[in-house]
Amino acid sequence: MLRDKTYWAQAADAYRAEMDSSYHRNRLAMVERLLNAGDLAGRVLDFGCGDGTLSERVLAAGGGVVAIDADPSMVAFTDRRLGESEAAKTSVGGVESLKDLPNGSFDTILAVNVLAYLHGGEDAAFYQEAARLLRPDGVLLVTHSNSLFDLFTLNAFTVRFFKDNFSVLGHHCRVEALLTRPDAPDRVPQSVRENPLAYGAKMVRYDLREVRQEFAIPHALPPLLLNENPDDLANREVPDLEFLPETEVWKKMFLCSVFGSRLVKA
Ligand SMILES: C[S@@+](CC[C@H](N)C(=O)[O-])C[C@H]1O[C@@H](n2cnc3c(N)ncnc32)[C@H](O)[C@@H]1O
Repeated sequence: MLRDKTYWAQAADAYRAEMDSSYHRNRLAMVERLLNAGDLAGRVLDFGCGDGTLSERVLAAGGGVVAIDADPSMVAFTDRRLGESEAAKTSVGGVESLKDLPNGSFDTILAVNVLAYLHGGEDAAFYQEAARLLRPDGVLLVTHSNSLFDLFTLNAFTVRFFKDNFSVLGHHCRVEALLTRPDAPDRVPQSVRENPLAYGAKMVRYDLREVRQEFAIPHALPPLLLNENPDDLANREVPDLEFLPETEVWKKMFLCSVFGSRLVKA
């Protein structure tokens, strides 16, 4: 079942309650690795701000933030969290609301854990708007569901990865015949997934140049073998991959279900 536009209205409370978990600490540490000193000290747009964790981080760094989220309860929560600060502005809206903001008005745009939930071409519209809103050399920091991780899950996502990417070779893709549970899981949590090997090349068309990637949410075993409930973020085990020597860092690209990218406006 695809998470539709009504999903966040019923999921917002649970999401906020789980922010203090190893899952969220791990992905937010990745965001910190993608940031350079000073990124949050200027004019920052926090798109899909959720509970305001990153907007609050902007204020602490001395920056000014415009925090936007499609879910009114998330915006109300962020509003209370940021208090009366004149350096913060919050509003309810989606990609379409970005058109009201002036050209070149941001030094940094954060789109963390939100682009996966866009639908039907909204991500292309988002990138066009982000490139318009950034000043030259401004930074877009995004995180994504990692479609390369699908090769490691040996399940329905693996079947989809082969069909989406390798049918071009001219053969009917039959990888499901090799898997014991090719139909599991029956839920497709996100609408948009990205391939870290292809992402930099894709962004060139928006005048955005990828300068760094980082990975988060590693899995020691394919989730099916662990019988993990993917929605149980509070109890999700997040193994430490920081011990990997330089020659094995590439493994993160397959073991991690999330990646982040730092892009610079050309
Ligand atoms: C997983 S949360 C991430 C929140 C925050 N950025 C973080 O990293 O903790 C996703 C957020 O994106 C918001 N969202 C989903 N679709 C959106 C859209 N089309 N436009 C703006 N916000 C959206 C949801 O309401 C939710 O608050």
